[in-house]
Amino acid sequence: MDKFHIRGGNALKGRVSISGAKNSALPCMAAAILTPETITLHNIPYVRDIITMRRLLEDIGGHVLTPELRTHKISAANVELMSAPYELVKTMRASVLALGPLLARFGKARVSLPGGCAIGARPIDLHLAAFTKMGAEVVLEAGDVIARAPQDGLRGGEIEFEKISVTGTENVMMAATLARGKTVIHHAAREPEVRDLAELLNKMGARVRGAGTAKIEIDGVEGLGEAQHTIIPDRIETGTFIVAGAITKGELEIKDCNPEHCNRIIGKLRDVGVEIEEVNQSTLHVSCRKEIHAGDLQTEEYPGFPTDMQAQFMTLMTQANGRSEIVEKIFENRFMHASELQRMGARIQISHDKAVVEGPTQLIGARVLASDLRASASLVLAGLIAEGETIIDRVYHIDRGYEKIETKLKAVGADIVRLRDSVTAPLSSQEGVAA
Ligand code: EPZ
Repeated sequence: MDKFHIRGGNALKGRVSISGAKNSALPCMAAAILTPETITLHNIPYVRDIITMRRLLEDIGGHVLTPELRTHKISAANVELMSAPYELVKTMRASVLALGPLLARFGKARVSLPGGCAIGARPIDLHLAAFTKMGAEVVLEAGDVIARAPQDGLRGGEIEFEKISVTGTENVMMAATLARGKTVIHHAAREPEVRDLAELLNKMGARVRGAGTAKIEIDGVEGLGEAQHTIIPDRIETGTFIVAGAITKGELEIKDCNPEHCNRIIGKLRDVGVEIEEVNQSTLHVSCRKEIHAGDLQTEEYPGFPTDMQAQFMTLMTQANGRSEIVEKIFENRFMHASELQRMGARIQISHDKAVVEGPTQLIGARVLASDLRASASLVLAGLIAEGETIIDRVYHIDRGYEKIETKLKAVGADIVRLRDSVTAPLSSQEGVAA
């Protein structure tokens, strides 16, 4: 398994380009299942989860061409296998996004139940309850979900999510495009990625209204056709690089981003002293000449502060003057990065859904373990400012959602290299620091 070797202390300076949003590309790729026509997607990020979704589409009989690295032309004309196998689903929970489209177009689907993951149990009960409400018969068998639509297809209805679910909203929205009659989704997720998917579906001939609000209406249609679509920029990668520029006391120009999708991230980081200028509608300028001060945070569904930026914010707060309280309200176990940061000297106390961070602390390089996608990013940020060397193991977690992060960081002055597999440079300083 690849590792990152980072020598801390360099201020990042220069220009970085943001890739397409993984969490928009994944549902948009799944949407191609809804039609036999070709769907062309541009600005697809080159990350592992995309490769997994491509494998899933090909495994069920789809055809994916990449005329260039970040353009996917997907045809689901010859899909004959309606199932997403466990070995794919266990590596990527977003595989469940195949459920709605398969059910809507073919009337049946078999998808392995995604196991839990590092950040929580992550059930899909809300997805399944919604499909049942639309007339599907859903049974669990040997770890798989087997769903069948009525003979005359899914029927529209009122879907009330008791909890906001991003992929739940996306799954139901896709299924509803081909259902009989009208579907209204209440308590829908409002993320920009939901809006981006709706835009693609409408280009395909669907009739989706209200995406981005808590109430989405979909009038079912007979069939969907071909479309071209460009995926929105990744707002979490954007937030991660804002923190990278700030925490290293550097100066970054962040291009090809969408500041409008990052309002709460930008607002919160400005509150703690990061200087962020919106140069234009796709460029931010970040610097941090003043000291960072402590700030409290509670993660919320969009448009609140995103849970996917909580770990990165925690690393920044280890450098802040004072005491910060971070409350994670979305997932039940999303503080795994805290124990690794403590091994680098961070002063963090965890109790239930709250982490209290005391700063500033000079972090010390250590050998640390990545546990999930965003925790890995927080450890890279810590390595960039730690004294000495940091080695981060299991960077396949970060490769799932960040396109060549070490290349982008190196291009703006970070001392970071990827160690392939077994090659691990010894830490010149002592190995880690007892918490
Ligand atoms: C999406 O996951 C994102 N993934 C996650 O990003 C993100 O952290 C999450 O939304 C929250 O914003 C993709 O879009 C591919 P949820 P999703 O359904 O849809 C509970 C990353 O780092 N829940 O909104 O799986 C669930 O356990 C990833 O890129 C149920 O109880 O998350 C959680 O506590 C990590 N039953 C809460 O709702 C359900 O049926 C929100 O989950 C569904 C969800």
